[in-house]
Amino acid sequence: MSRRLVQVVLLCLGCGLCSLLYAFSQLALSLEQEAARRQGDSALPVRRQLSGGGGGAWRAAARSAGCSQREPPERCKNVSVSYWNSYWMLPSDVCGRNCFWEAARRYDFVKKQPLEKMHLAVVACGERLEETVTMLKSAIIFSITPLHFHIFAEDPLHTEFREILDGLAYQGKFNYTLYPISFPAENAAEWKKLFKPCASQRLFLPLILKDVDSLLYVDTDILFLRPVDDIWSFLKKFNSTQIAAMAPEHEEPRIGWYNRFARHPYYGKTGINSGVMLMNMTRIRRKHFKNDMTTARLRWEEILMPLLKKYKLNITWGDQDLLNIMFFHNPESLFVFPCQWNYRPDHCIYGSNCQQVDQEGIFILHGNRGVYHDDKQPAFRAVYDAIRNYSFGDDLVHALLLPLELELQKTQHTYCGRIYKVFTKQLTKSIRDICDRRSKGR
Ligand SMILES: *[C@@H]1O[C@H](CO)[C@@H](O)[C@H](O)[C@H]1NC(C)=O
Ligand SMILES: *[C@@H]1O[C@H](CO)[C@@H](O)[C@H](O)[C@H]1NC(C)=O
Ligand SMILES: *[C@@H]1O[C@H](CO)[C@@H](O)[C@H](O)[C@H]1NC(C)=O
Ligand SMILES: *[C@@H]1O[C@H](CO)[C@@H](O)[C@H](O)[C@H]1NC(C)=O
Ligand SMILES: *[C@@H]1O[C@H](CO)[C@@H](O)[C@H](O)[C@H]1NC(C)=O
Ligand SMILES: *[C@@H]1O[C@H](CO)[C@@H](O)[C@H](O)[C@H]1NC(C)=O
Repeated sequence: MSRRLVQVVLLCLGCGLCSLLYAFSQLALSLEQEAARRQGDSALPVRRQLSGGGGGAWRAAARSAGCSQREPPERCKNVSVSYWNSYWMLPSDVCGRNCFWEAARRYDFVKKQPLEKMHLAVVACGERLEETVTMLKSAIIFSITPLHFHIFAEDPLHTEFREILDGLAYQGKFNYTLYPISFPAENAAEWKKLFKPCASQRLFLPLILKDVDSLLYVDTDILFLRPVDDIWSFLKKFNSTQIAAMAPEHEEPRIGWYNRFARHPYYGKTGINSGVMLMNMTRIRRKHFKNDMTTARLRWEEILMPLLKKYKLNITWGDQDLLNIMFFHNPESLFVFPCQWNYRPDHCIYGSNCQQVDQEGIFILHGNRGVYHDDKQPAFRAVYDAIRNYSFGDDLVHALLLPLELELQKTQHTYCGRIYKVFTKQLTKSIRDICDRRSKGR
């Protein structure tokens, strides 16, 4: 009887202690937020935790991002945290919980986790060098986790790529590997002919990059307006059967291409666009695909050639059509992300039909049909020019955002220019987040 009483009392004491600790940590956190608010950046919400420890060079690079802000306050003074000097007893101008963790990290109490890199692949042929570099720049500007670029390019472009990438003053934030364009020996000529000179290279990425688990493939005419981290995080949302993620080719079936013209099967109502393709390549390499050629299921490396042979005369957009056929037969394997992750002129050229951008803005811009280089869609071109004009280290607001807003206002005579604010909505937020992270010294 009395022993049970003791147990109950101990339990209560334990619970009490726990809630006391919790209360203190909440208090510390609220003090910290209060302090952050008082420093004037009231528009900046406390958000995004950087995962992992990260290398010094990486952090230094992140800090050199161009933000027009005063130096960050010294939040973590040299007050050692110990049993006698616990973190909730630190002076009020010293941060609370974060300081606890920062201090712990400084003393290496928290084991450093190796940062998992994000892998980005692009295939550049012909005149696409400047466009590719501009795309890579946009990835570097906004991303948080270090990137590895896998650049597939025709041999004559390699030297210039190397010179430009080695010259980018952002060492530590990315690394890159250059590859020649290559196809399976037997049918190299046939694959090269398909669509543009080397667009079908992307179909072979899971077979060439055997050591890479997951990969974001993008066309050269892509521009990131928010961290690559955010699209990368879809990988963790895949259910057990999903192996790749893409956006629909169209939102509006009345102007859709596949549903009106295709002479082959395609995914969903309007097909999918392969300009932004997130892949778990481990799963692609393992999967056996259903198909309409044999009753047996085929692996990725077995299915490509028969598919090309069967549909060669019926496909228009090359490898994107092959992907549509493949996911028509294996719909459970595709994760579809919304249109603002792959925003094309089709979404505004006859009026806005990607509704998500009205609230959140454009996340990834895709200037297909050459709109960065002609005058047909000046709003798309303005974003491209602004990022191309920007040099690392320059102030992001004054050297990127403001000039772009001015240019966009001149495009209001076009359908896409009429909704010009969606082009900078997310961009503004991304820049704010960079400055926010920087002022926290991360
Ligand atoms: C805090 O301590 C570190 C090493 O322990 C030292 O390098 C640094 O200068 C100190 N900072 C201040 C503000 O005293
Ligand atoms: C960059 O990649 C190369 C191989 O492409 C590798 O040898 C090198 O160690 C990498 N550097 C970093 C900092 O990851
Ligand atoms: C990709 O899939 C494999 C096998 O299911 C899994 O082990 C791995 O964690 C996945 N990669 C990512 C980044 O989610
Ligand atoms: C190719 O298109 C033609 C004409 O629409 C059609 O009859 C034929 O079945 C198609 N071929 C395949 C393999 O789907
Ligand atoms: C995964 O999601 C896809 C698309 O929503 C669905 O078709 C498939 O059945 C799901 N797989 C599982 C195992 O739930
Ligand atoms: C980019 O620079 C060119 C001159 O090099 C200038 O004409 C153009 O207005 C700039 N565009 C933007 C959006 O900053």
